[in-house]
Amino acid sequence: IDAVRIIEAKRDGNELDDDEIDWIVDGYTRGVVPPEQMSALAMAVYFRGMTDREIARWTAAMVDSGTRLDLSDLTRAGRRVPTVDKHSTGGVGDSVTLVLTPLLATWELAVPQLSGRGLGHTGGTLDKLEAIPGWRADLDAATRRRILEETGAVICAAGADLAPADRALYALRDVTGTVPSIPMLAASIMSKKIAEGTGALVLDVKCGSGAFRPDRADADELARVMVAIGTAAGVRTSALVTANHTPLGRAVGNAVEVAECVEILAGGGPPDMVDLTCALAQEALAAVGIDDDPRERLRDGRAMDSFRAMISAQGGDPDAALPVAAHTEELRAPDSGELTWDALGVGRASWLAGAGRTRPGETVDPAAGVLLHRVEGDPVRAGEVVATVHAGDPGRVPAALTELASALEIGAPGTARGPAGVVLG
Ligand code: URA
Repeated sequence: IDAVRIIEAKRDGNELDDDEIDWIVDGYTRGVVPPEQMSALAMAVYFRGMTDREIARWTAAMVDSGTRLDLSDLTRAGRRVPTVDKHSTGGVGDSVTLVLTPLLATWELAVPQLSGRGLGHTGGTLDKLEAIPGWRADLDAATRRRILEETGAVICAAGADLAPADRALYALRDVTGTVPSIPMLAASIMSKKIAEGTGALVLDVKCGSGAFRPDRADADELARVMVAIGTAAGVRTSALVTANHTPLGRAVGNAVEVAECVEILAGGGPPDMVDLTCALAQEALAAVGIDDDPRERLRDGRAMDSFRAMISAQGGDPDAALPVAAHTEELRAPDSGELTWDALGVGRASWLAGAGRTRPGETVDPAAGVLLHRVEGDPVRAGEVVATVHAGDPGRVPAALTELASALEIGAPGTARGPAGVVLG
């Protein structure tokens, strides 16, 4: 087996066999197959796709690049608890994990969440949480388990032990234009979720311009492939396809999204974020046999207490001030009418402001991002401030502002397409 032959086979539209898949995933993880060859293969997969068998094998090879945890004997307060997790395929303004994880942990269960960093125009849960002073994404397996048993919630990076192939591939895909490949998306997400040891999983498959696969048919296909992989691996898996044609919530970035989540945990926050969080919570609870109302626990402070415990357990200070951008600039409505925001454009504006990366390993600006003062469907008047760009580097503001302006449309009444977060299927 050699890498060139595997690349050529996929380039020419052939199916890879199990040995070839195992060999190249293992070789890339160990540094034997260089990034230029894996980049070429990822691009070939992007154009040629993979059969269900190839995707399942690729995912299994990624899981086997590390250890698969067994959390079936996990306890809280001396009692065995089921594990359930949620993962999003990536969207704009999607900080649901920050609220959902501690919310779910208020029941007798545990949420062993392995998350990622920003990919392209989408933010990453870990990048967002790192805006909280002191908070650490990297935990060893023993610490992760201890925190899970103590608080029921953990959000951390997949370390060297869990699906290390994904860590390497994720960074490579991010900078080679290969993120939107359905096989690559499915294998990335499912390898982490299978390796982390969760018993049940709810997938939030994004649809609309904020998603890596904007089309409904592609979102449905991605959902189908991931549910099949999870189910075959013994994880009770379900998926909701949800709208992300416009940003979810009002904040897009790192610290600004954390601040919005804290509002939600205090019983307020944007209704689209609250509704989606509760829809996913209900699905996750159903997966472990619980029928209850998640809204109550956002309103009565239980989810907030759980969030504070989760943040503190990972070294964060839940009372510390979040980073504030040194530079802000407002965007005003050019006309009067009904407003729409394109999710991709707003995500790109936040990225250009410094919230994401353009090179592997780059540090992100925790204070960078966009705050929307008016959202999809709001009536606006010409000259009214509709959004603010936040950035630490003033040199980044003009490009972010230009991108943001092109994501804005003001139309006649009836132009708006409804809120983000709506469950489509
Ligand atoms: N989330 C992941 O973990 N991987 C992807 O490829 C996209 C979103």
